[in-house]
Amino acid sequence: MTTILVTGATGTLGRPLRSRLAEAGETVRAASRSPPDETDDASERRDAVEWVELDLADGTGLERAVGGVDVVVHAATAPQGDSEAVDVDGTERLLDAAESAGVDHVVYPSIVGIEAVPYSYYRHKLAAERAVEASEVPATILRATQFHQFVDQILGMAARVPVWPLPTTFRVQPVDAGEVADALVDCAIGEPRGRVPPVGGPEVRTLGELAVAYREARGLRRPIVRLPLPGAVASAFRAGEATCPDRAVGTVTWEEWLAAEYGGATESARPDAAPS
Ligand SMILES: NC(=O)c1ccc[n+]([C@@H]2O[C@H](COP(=O)([O-])OP(=O)(O)OC[C@H]3O[C@@H](n4cnc5c(N)ncnc54)[C@H](OP(=O)(O)O)[C@@H]3O)[C@@H](O)[C@H]2O)c1
Repeated sequence: MTTILVTGATGTLGRPLRSRLAEAGETVRAASRSPPDETDDASERRDAVEWVELDLADGTGLERAVGGVDVVVHAATAPQGDSEAVDVDGTERLLDAAESAGVDHVVYPSIVGIEAVPYSYYRHKLAAERAVEASEVPATILRATQFHQFVDQILGMAARVPVWPLPTTFRVQPVDAGEVADALVDCAIGEPRGRVPPVGGPEVRTLGELAVAYREARGLRRPIVRLPLPGAVASAFRAGEATCPDRAVGTVTWEEWLAAEYGGATESARPDAAPS
């Protein structure tokens, strides 16, 4: 029986990771800064045999989290918080603890294009990848493109104002987090493989096209206006650096995800329907 620690177990990726690992018959130990307890909905606690409190920013709970574990799937991250403390220093702390505890394999989800997009969170992800590669613990690194939920979150913020100013020409390739979790489960139950080919969503689209489909799915009518963003980060997103069209292995399209999330069927917002 393999015991697998999932860090970031309450996150977008952590939730499907928990369920898929449990379905595959693995013993799941789930970690979060605030693990759900008996007062929470049982669905929050399901799939994990055990929940542990872990804060990677200061190392609280690390020894308990990794003790007796065979494999770690490290999905904890702080894109909106102190990503240097959590993603870089926290990953190094986790790797040291995993090595001391005799963990056999660390699986690390990362992001497509992080070396080409000079965004601080991506720089921290790159540093974390390097720490994983430098560690004595055998590892597998799997990169993915943006999750549908992430695009939904960005558009949800834009939707709060009467006119949506968006960098409509950014190219993105949204992918289903469950499909990324499937690929990570394959990694976790296999031998360490170093870097494996990335997982991208089925289509490279512009953010403008995605916004039109989102607006339709939510039954909104607000105008979408192109926000011309200067700088190297914007230029890299416009150039499609965060996409991997040759690895369009995900199957769930943006419109399918929107229909499942918001109900109803959405027409595909193809380039001719999108704002320029
Ligand atoms: N989102 C995307 O589009 C995307 C695309 C490709 C790859 N990825 C990668 O996939 C992984 C998971 O991303 P996600 O989108 O699922 O993230 P998420 O939804 O933001 O979840 C982050 C998780 O990290 C935990 N966490 C945050 N701070 C922590 C700390 N100090 N100590 C311990 N745990 C902490 C959170 O749990 P608590 O708050 O309960 O502690 C939460 O469970 C990351 O490596 C990310 O880079 C994401």
